[in-house]
Amino acid sequence: MAAPSRKMILATFIHNSGAHPGGWRYPSAAPVDQHDFRVYAHLAQTAERGKMHCYFSGDSQGYPHIKGRDAFAATDYAGKLEPTTLLAALAVSTRHIGLIATASTTYNEPYSIARRYASLDHISGGRAGWNVVTSASDSEARNFGRDLLMDHDARYARAEEFVDVVKNLWDSWEDGAHIRDRDAGRYIDPDRVHQLDHEGPHFKVAGPLNVGRPPQGHPIIVQAGGSGAGRALSARTADMVFTAANSLDAAKTFYADMKRRAAGFGRNPDHVLIIPSVQLMVRSTEKEARQAEEELLDLVPTALALRTLQLQLGVDLSAYGPNDKLPDLPLTNGGQWVQQQIIKMARDEDLTIGQLARRVVVSRASYSLAGTPEQVADMCELWFREGGADGFSLSPNYMPGALEDFVDQVIPILQKRGLFRTDYEGETLRENLGLPRPPNAFTINPALGREPSMWA
Ligand SMILES: Cc1cc2nc3c(=O)[nH]c(=O)nc-3n(C[C@H](O)[C@H](O)[C@H](O)COP(=O)(O)O)c2cc1C
Repeated sequence: MAAPSRKMILATFIHNSGAHPGGWRYPSAAPVDQHDFRVYAHLAQTAERGKMHCYFSGDSQGYPHIKGRDAFAATDYAGKLEPTTLLAALAVSTRHIGLIATASTTYNEPYSIARRYASLDHISGGRAGWNVVTSASDSEARNFGRDLLMDHDARYARAEEFVDVVKNLWDSWEDGAHIRDRDAGRYIDPDRVHQLDHEGPHFKVAGPLNVGRPPQGHPIIVQAGGSGAGRALSARTADMVFTAANSLDAAKTFYADMKRRAAGFGRNPDHVLIIPSVQLMVRSTEKEARQAEEELLDLVPTALALRTLQLQLGVDLSAYGPNDKLPDLPLTNGGQWVQQQIIKMARDEDLTIGQLARRVVVSRASYSLAGTPEQVADMCELWFREGGADGFSLSPNYMPGALEDFVDQVIPILQKRGLFRTDYEGETLRENLGLPRPPNAFTINPALGREPSMWA
């Protein structure tokens, strides 16, 4: 088969010290202290050795809502380095790989996010990305002055305005505004600095930002919303969309819908990259890969699996036993797409609550790529060629072995098939993703901004 002209996007998604709740106990996993920066530096350098596009740091701002001492004690969710801080350190430990950090629009202010990611983009030489999340759990709400999570659609309404303000703050300095002319004694060109004076339903922000325009113009925007409101936000504002799909059919439906929605906003659909999240386990035979998955799963206490399922579904299932079937459920106020995918999986495969919990605790509703290097490469190729994905966000099941196996055994196959690049093509993440640098909103529309009032 001819090599396609478009190349696959590959990211590695690192949540806690591993994506799998049993990963920290797996015998061949390195002993994990998730406060040890060297763990993350090794992972990022391994992904960079494989020429992967990005290191993607998931996050939440609270202890997950895992009730019950035993379930709680079994998780390695205990301790999470703040992602932009972590990625600033990774920026100086790596040279090419993109660095994507998660931050919530529900528990932040646009000015501080714009500043943080602009700084990260400058520090990394244009390799920063922001995974925009609206947050989905009450445990986070309780750390930010609320008892319960804000209403789903209200979170997205805030997010829409939030992202626009952040992008305009990044544009508040035009390119070349820092002239640093020693002879003329002019450090900046005041004509190229703009005040937003934004006043919307959620935010009042004057600007300008106190950091110059990021090297990428705008750091890469990533989004994982799967509900109607989430897809609308992604289609309008995101460069890359991260999703959970547990079959090629589901992936294709999502992919086609997102490309159509992006076109509906007047965007080039090729500039909205869809990367489903997949779990990863590579072994020399498929049987060994499946066995390794089972061994890992046996390290996860049933109580933790059941609690995780309830969290993802947004309901209390304590009235039901593990052998019961899932009852009809109301739409959650948390992550709606993931909830609907999980319910569909239970119905399609006729799973009990116990069986469903074992699936969900590992992968939410993502697909599991387990097999030989050739089989894993085949699956990636199939989804890529069949319109299910522009690439993948790989969640290694244990660290660092599962990522090393992919880099050393699967990537060379993808490269040989012409599906994945053999070196970084550009300097910035945007260049390496094949995405254009956005024009500055104030340059193309001078009516948008005002001269900063501090100069009046
Ligand atoms: C694969 C995947 C990974 C996610 N990772 C995070 C994360 O790290 N932090 C977070 O707050 N939300 C995360 N989410 C949740 C989404 O950001 C989003 O809040 C949720 O899917 C709700 O969106 P929806 O109601 O539009 O479906 C993730 C979702 C998916 C599908």
